[in-house]
Amino acid sequence: MKKIGVLTSGGDAPGMNAAIRAVVRKAIYHDLEVYGVYNGYEGLMEGNIKKMELGSVGDIIQRGGTILYSARSEEFKTDAGQLKAIEQMEKHGIEGLIVIGGDGSFRGAEKLTLKGFPCIGVPGTIDNDIAGTDYTIGFDTALNTIVDAVDKIRDTATSHERTYVIEVMGRDAGDLALWAGLANGAETVIIPEKKESFESVVAKLKRGQERGKKHSIIILAEGVGSGVDYGKRIEEETQMDTRVTVLGHIQRGGSPSGYDRVLASRLGAKAVDLLLSGVGGKMVGVQNNLVVSHDISEVLTKKHEINMNMYDLSNQLSI
Ligand code: F6P
Repeated sequence: MKKIGVLTSGGDAPGMNAAIRAVVRKAIYHDLEVYGVYNGYEGLMEGNIKKMELGSVGDIIQRGGTILYSARSEEFKTDAGQLKAIEQMEKHGIEGLIVIGGDGSFRGAEKLTLKGFPCIGVPGTIDNDIAGTDYTIGFDTALNTIVDAVDKIRDTATSHERTYVIEVMGRDAGDLALWAGLANGAETVIIPEKKESFESVVAKLKRGQERGKKHSIIILAEGVGSGVDYGKRIEEETQMDTRVTVLGHIQRGGSPSGYDRVLASRLGAKAVDLLLSGVGGKMVGVQNNLVVSHDISEVLTKKHEINMNMYDLSNQLSI
């Protein structure tokens, strides 16, 4: 293999740039040519492809977002779209592709691999919702963004003796909510993986009120439903002065944490090693602090498991 490509796809995540840097530098270290594909699969089909040099990835390890831009493509889901992409890569002499993104992006990578074009997936999403890796790139940074925001909200919640419902991202996964709940000492964490009845949440709030608690923080994962609706119900049921904050896309931005930069560097480099050894159709990940790889087909059929011991702990610590 002499030439490889790299793209970012789906929702951006802090640390994607660090992963791009690792791919480019590791590839050049091994005397490969490396091409950046702009705008995800959309750009791949259009041939928006440029050769990258060592300097192309200078000064980006600390930057959020992705210098290669990102997109979600409907056309690429079709056979015709995938063949168009392969044609473009062949035109540039590219023989393998590294896809940094989430499970939707890996579906595309699997399709290309099945059509004879080897791809390696690097998990980059704030949601931490991918099987076969303990952490995805961007999760730690998003978690720290939430922790910082909730600390600030707690200040005003205390001053005004209010109840807050804070809706966090994560798509269908509750990891961001759970980790933030533990880190912020939230009174209640509501996640899609463990439906907590509305009645028990209200009962807990009332118990707190009876023993003189003046404010409460409820962290709700977006996968459960609307934080605004939940806040309204809480206020109606308890008559507590309640406010809702939907943290939104602030969770996707910002400079990646040290952890995410290191993870991205390790995974990006491993992806290059796999392509060089002639392997395709794999996703790299980290498990028990070891860099691993799994078949993308396997990753896509398995469900990422949330740590229910942590959920129990969060409840035990917020009685
Ligand atoms: O997958 C990352 C994510 O930020 C999810 O947490 C969220 O549900 C979704 O993307 C939002 O997507 P968009 O940026 O298209 O609104």
